[in-house]
Amino acid sequence: MANFIVTPWEVKGNIDYNKLVNQFGVKLIDQNILKKMEKQTGELHYFLKRKIFFAHMYLDKILEAHEKGEKFYLYTGRAPSGPVHLGHIIPWIFTKWLQEKFKVPLLFQIPDEEKFLFKDNLSLDETKKWAYENILDIIAIGFDPKKTRIFLDTEYANVLYKYACMVAKRITVSTAKATFGFNDSNNIGEYFYTSMQSVPAFLPTIFEGKPTYCLIPCAIDQDVHFRLTRDVADKLGFPKPATILCRFLPGLQGMQEEGKMSSSIQQTAIFTTDSPKVVKEKIMKYAFSGGQPTIEEHRKKGGNPDIDVSYQWLTFFEEDDKKLEKIYNDYKTGKLLTGELKQILIEKLNSFLEKHREKREKAKDLIDKFLEKD
Ligand code: TRP
Repeated sequence: MANFIVTPWEVKGNIDYNKLVNQFGVKLIDQNILKKMEKQTGELHYFLKRKIFFAHMYLDKILEAHEKGEKFYLYTGRAPSGPVHLGHIIPWIFTKWLQEKFKVPLLFQIPDEEKFLFKDNLSLDETKKWAYENILDIIAIGFDPKKTRIFLDTEYANVLYKYACMVAKRITVSTAKATFGFNDSNNIGEYFYTSMQSVPAFLPTIFEGKPTYCLIPCAIDQDVHFRLTRDVADKLGFPKPATILCRFLPGLQGMQEEGKMSSSIQQTAIFTTDSPKVVKEKIMKYAFSGGQPTIEEHRKKGGNPDIDVSYQWLTFFEEDDKKLEKIYNDYKTGKLLTGELKQILIEKLNSFLEKHREKREKAKDLIDKFLEKD
């Protein structure tokens, strides 16, 4: 048995991503695909070069279709239950890049029923309130308003429900149990939910009136839903959705302690609304260090960037490959101290967040440009 767990509702342990790829029956993104991608996009996003987006299903089909001049859509989502943290926005940053490079429409689902169904302590009014808060963070990422539709499940049910029923009819209880680990005490809303998450993958074909591909950028835990979507797609006459999958941003305590950043552990997650001072305090206090216990020892033996959370985070947020490499080498040889490494990360994040918060403020006037309702 592997000593990690990855499901759409739980991520724990030190994840072996190669094993996970086998477990989930998805594919690693290989050189061949990267080459094809680069040919079409002109350059590779550093998330691809650094294997932060590292796995996929049917990405080759999307690239083939695009090469032939066929239109495809992007689709991603966010289940609101609280404020947005840095882990959430990794797939969104990449989705924006894909939209820009391929000039394609994006469907952004906000399943405001999901966390209501799966958690004990949230009302539908609360999830809706978070939905509208989270939409500000989504818009702040910079999606093209002309090409992006954002919708809440409870406000777009007229369109979604019919197709959700078509999906639901083709997923048995035993399949849902085997896929999600459900048992007889799960509520029937939880069983139904995956049908709602499936539907936007079919909307491209429904909107265009002809078979149209859909590419879903998301964290790897979500592929489980889309495995079911792919199973029913054939039966319903829709193209199977493709996914492009990323690993998780670890929490401040590192991947051993927390498989991914989690909103329920507030000290070790950084939220988009955290002030510069809070960001600094959290990193100084909690960021797991790969450094040596004393400065003398650190200078002599050097640190271990591979387990150091500040360094790991910089691989997600420092775009410049050369800068990153220098930080890696300086840390490994003991030239750079843990406190200095943390300071680099703090400055990087705070400058990113400052800009994000400005755009988030402006987003308040833009909601209507993005929102789709019944
Ligand atoms: N289930 C996702 C979450 O917990 C929300 C979601 C809905 C989603 N549709 C999606 C995520 C499509 C990625 C892609 O946040």
